[in-house]
Amino acid sequence: MRTAPIVPAAVDFSDPAAPRAPAFDAPYHPVSGAFAQARQVFLAGNDLPERWRGRTRFTVLETGFGLGNNFLATWAAWRDDPARCERLCFISIEKHPLRAEDLQRAHAASPMPELARALIDLWPPATCNLHALDFDAGRVRLLLAFGDVQAWARELVARVDAFYLDGFAPARNPAMWEHGVFVMLARVAAPGATAATWSDAHAVRESLRGAGFEVHAAARQGGISDSTLARFSPRFAPPVPPGRVVPRDAPAHAIVIGGGLAGASTARALAHQGIACTVIDRHAEPAAEASGNPASLFHGAVIRHDGPHARLLRAAALRCAPAMRAAIARGVPGCGDGLLRLESRLSLAAMQDLLDRQALPASYVQAFSAALATQTAGLALAHAAWFYPGGGWMDPSALVRDALTTPGVTWRGATTAQRIARHGDAWQLFDVDDRVIAEAPVLVLANASDALRLAGLPMAWLQRQRGQLSWSAHAATSAPRIPIASGGYVLTLPSGALLFGATKQEHDEDPTVRDSDHGANRGKASLLLGADALREIGAMHGRTAWRATAPDRLPLVGPAPDLTAPRPLRADAARLLPRQPGLWLHSGLGSRGLTTATLCAELIAAQVSGAPWPLDADLVDAIDPARGVLR
Ligand SMILES: Cc1cc2nc3c(=O)[nH]c(=O)nc-3n(C[C@H](O)[C@H](O)[C@H](O)COP(=O)(O)OP(=O)(O)OC[C@H]3O[C@@H](n4cnc5c(N)ncnc54)[C@H](O)[C@@H]3O)c2cc1C
Ligand SMILES: C[S@@+](CC[C@H](N)C(=O)[O-])C[C@H]1O[C@@H](n2cnc3c(N)ncnc32)[C@H](O)[C@@H]1O
Repeated sequence: MRTAPIVPAAVDFSDPAAPRAPAFDAPYHPVSGAFAQARQVFLAGNDLPERWRGRTRFTVLETGFGLGNNFLATWAAWRDDPARCERLCFISIEKHPLRAEDLQRAHAASPMPELARALIDLWPPATCNLHALDFDAGRVRLLLAFGDVQAWARELVARVDAFYLDGFAPARNPAMWEHGVFVMLARVAAPGATAATWSDAHAVRESLRGAGFEVHAAARQGGISDSTLARFSPRFAPPVPPGRVVPRDAPAHAIVIGGGLAGASTARALAHQGIACTVIDRHAEPAAEASGNPASLFHGAVIRHDGPHARLLRAAALRCAPAMRAAIARGVPGCGDGLLRLESRLSLAAMQDLLDRQALPASYVQAFSAALATQTAGLALAHAAWFYPGGGWMDPSALVRDALTTPGVTWRGATTAQRIARHGDAWQLFDVDDRVIAEAPVLVLANASDALRLAGLPMAWLQRQRGQLSWSAHAATSAPRIPIASGGYVLTLPSGALLFGATKQEHDEDPTVRDSDHGANRGKASLLLGADALREIGAMHGRTAWRATAPDRLPLVGPAPDLTAPRPLRADAARLLPRQPGLWLHSGLGSRGLTTATLCAELIAAQVSGAPWPLDADLVDAIDPARGVLR
C-alpha cells in the first residue's frame, strides 16, 4: 500500500461523557455510553459471545478504531466468557489514530482500567502500517491498520467472522460507507460472517446488499437507535489466487528445517498459533551459521523512494521493536535503547524535509544534528544521524535458543535433510542414506540458500555472500552507548569490547578469519568513530558466516511455487502462480535477518493457520518467493 501521511485525530474532550471529532462534527459514541453501544450493537448484533464459543479462532474487523472502546468491550467479553474461543483477532482500520496522550485522556476514567492501560502501553507510532499488538500472551491480537479504509480494505487478507461498522454517520462521512468499501470487505468475509452497525441509513443497507450480505433491521434498544444487521451470503464466490489462500483449519504439526533466526522465529510463531513444531538442523547446536554472531543490529530505514524496501523494513522494524523488548525482558542479551545511523550525504535540513514529506513520526525515526548524535552516543561523531528509538542490538543465537524454548517447539539437531518429497498429504524428509527421518503436513524451509535446492527451485534466486565480523579482545577505552551504523557498524558488547564489521564478499567460500578482513572492518569502524577510538583496542577476534540474499534484496517468504504445474493463462502476478501444497519458504534474509525474521515468521504462521495476515497484501506480493518465476 502506498504510504500516506497519517494525520492524528484532534479530539474535543469538553464533554468527557461524549468526546467529539471536530473534523467530522460528530461524537465518538452516544452519550448513553460507548460500552453500552459496543455490547448492544456490535457484540449482540454479531451474536457474540455465543458465536465464538468452541472455536479455535474468531476474527472481528472494525471500520474506525476511534477511542478503542469496541475493542476493549470485545476483549473484556472474551475474558469474561469461560467458553471463549482459543484466539481472538480484532482488526481495526483507523485513518486518524489518537495521539498517545489523547488515548490516555480518553480512558482516564475507564471502567476497564487494566485493559485500557495495556492498550496505551502498546500504542504504536502513527505510521501507515498494520500494527500488531498482542495481549493475554498472544491469545488476543489487535491488528491496527492506520490509514484510509478505502486503501486498507483491499490490502487485508483474512477470514473475518464479524464486522463492526463504526465510522461516524454516513451523512457526515460518506467515504467510510461507500459501496466499493463493502465489496472489498466482502472479499475477506468468511462464509456466514455477520455485520452490525448502529446506522439505519438506506444507502448503507443497499451497499451491504450489493456486496453480498442479507440485511435486516434491529429495533431500538435502550438509548441506542435502530441498527442494521447483516449476514454474508453471496451468490457466488470468486476464485482465490494460490498466493492468497487462507485455510479454514490449521494443521496440528509442522516441521521447520533450519535452526537460525528464520527457523526459530517461524517455529515460535507457529506454536503461538497452536501448531506443534519440530525444528531440524544439521548442526548439533542451534544458530551455528549466520545467526550465530555475537551481536546483530535491528532498526528501520528511511529511503528517499518509499518503495517496497523502505516499507517492508519499516513494517518489520515496527514489529521487531516490541518483540526485542519482550525478549530482553525475558533475559536475552541485547539493548533496545535506540540506534544511530550516520548520514554523510544529506544536510540536517534535507533529512528533516524527507521525514516531513514521508510524515514519519519521532517515535519511529528522528533527524539528529552531529552535536545531538554525539551527546546520544557518548563520543564524538562527525556527522548528523538518523536516530531510531526502537532500534538496538541483540545476541541472535540467544534469541534463537529463547524461541526454541517456546512450548510446542521441539529441537532436533545433528539431522541433515538431504531431500524432501510429498507423500500423500505429508512432506517426508530423507537423510543422506535416503531414510525417512521425519514427516508432517506442513514443511517450512528456513535453511538459507539450501532451501531452494530442497524445494526444487533455481539456486540463482539467492546468492551466498560471505561476511566477517571483528571484535576487540578487551574492553575499549572509548565505546558508544548505543550502536552506530552506516555502511559498517559498531556496538559495545556487555563485556565492554567493541564489535564492528562487516565485510561483504561474493563467490568466497573461505571460512577462515582473515587479518585482511579485520583491517577492512577496522577501516569501516574508523569512518564511524574516528581512528583515535580504535587505537587502543589491541588483539581482535572474528567470525565468518554467509548471508543468503535475493537479487532484489527482498526476503523470500511464503508458499513455495510449483514449477512443474502448468502456468495459468493469466500469470502476470506472483500470487496467481501455482504452489506446492504444504511447502513454505522463509529465506533470503540478507543482512537484515534480525529485523525481518519476526514479521516474516508471523506471516508464514498466519498463512499456515488461517489467522489474519500481519502485512499488507502488496508487501506480501513483494516478498512472495514465486516472484522469481516472473523475472
Ligand atoms: C557478518 C555478518 C553480519 C551480520 N550482521 C547483521 C546485523 O547486524 N543485523 C541483521 O539483522 N543481520 C545481520 N546479518 C544477517 C543475519 O545474520 C542473517 O540474515 C540471519 O542470520 C539469517 O538467518 P537464517 O535463519 O535465514 O540463516 P542461518 O542462520 O544461516 O540458518 C540456516 C540454518 O539452516 C541449516 N541448514 C541448512 N541446510 C540444511 C539442511 N539441508 N538440513 C538441515 N539443516 C540445514 C543450517 O545449519 C543453519 O543453521 C549478518 C550476517 C553476517 C554474515
Ligand atoms: C465513531 S468513531 C469509532 C469509534 C470506535 N469504534 C470506538 O470504539 O471508540 C469513527 C472513527 O472512524 C474514523 N474514520 C473516519 N473516516 C475514516 C476513513 N476514511 N478511513 C478510516 N477511518 C476513518 C474516525 O477517525 C473515527 O476514529
